[in-house]
Amino acid sequence: VTAGPTYEAIDPVRGITNSSSGKMGFALARACAEAGAEVTLVAGPTAQQTPAGVARIDVTSALQMRDAVFSHLAGQHIFIAVAAVADYRPEAVAGQKIKKKDAELTIRLVSNPDILAEVAAKKDAPFCVGFAAESHDLANYAEAKRRAKKLSLVVGNLVQDGLGGDDNRVTLFDDAGAHPLPPADKLQVARGIVAHIAALMKSHRSS
Ligand code: C5P
Repeated sequence: VTAGPTYEAIDPVRGITNSSSGKMGFALARACAEAGAEVTLVAGPTAQQTPAGVARIDVTSALQMRDAVFSHLAGQHIFIAVAAVADYRPEAVAGQKIKKKDAELTIRLVSNPDILAEVAAKKDAPFCVGFAAESHDLANYAEAKRRAKKLSLVVGNLVQDGLGGDDNRVTLFDDAGAHPLPPADKLQVARGIVAHIAALMKSHRSS
């Protein structure tokens, strides 16, 4: 499970990040552990407590998150990418604090790798679950993301329903269509997602 934001350094004291709290990813790690899974949680900078029975690896940037994911991927059956990975990072990190001088400062950004898409593209990919947080047109964007990244399941939510708060309202998108879950606190929602993953994996195995 990946969770939380990433932090992309600009210089030793500044960086680019986002407002992901990590709550949903940590709730999913907890729900997976409760369901009997051996869980490795790769977490960006958050204030969340590590759930019982979960092995946590702390990372800062997207590149570090990708390294941690790939070095722990062997033998994993399920990959759940909840982290809000920064799409871009500064091309170069200044070694010293950038001094104020001109009226303008340009920071050139380069694309970060898409960790989930890279994992899902592997020949021996685990069962891959992605998240889609959208501000509008959720069903179309979530389904497009599922196809583009070749995912078994996408958990879609409207940003106004979930970001930062304790509750969430999600819809699950899989090969059979859209399945809304009842709105609830993030742990209840996570348990519902884990139950859905277990049912899908069971039907994949028996088909
Ligand atoms: O394309 P978008 O960023 O909206 O996709 C969101 C999903 O992809 C989430 O599951 C997120 O964790 C994952 N992701 C990733 N690496 C990125 C960007 C997104 O794993 N660089």
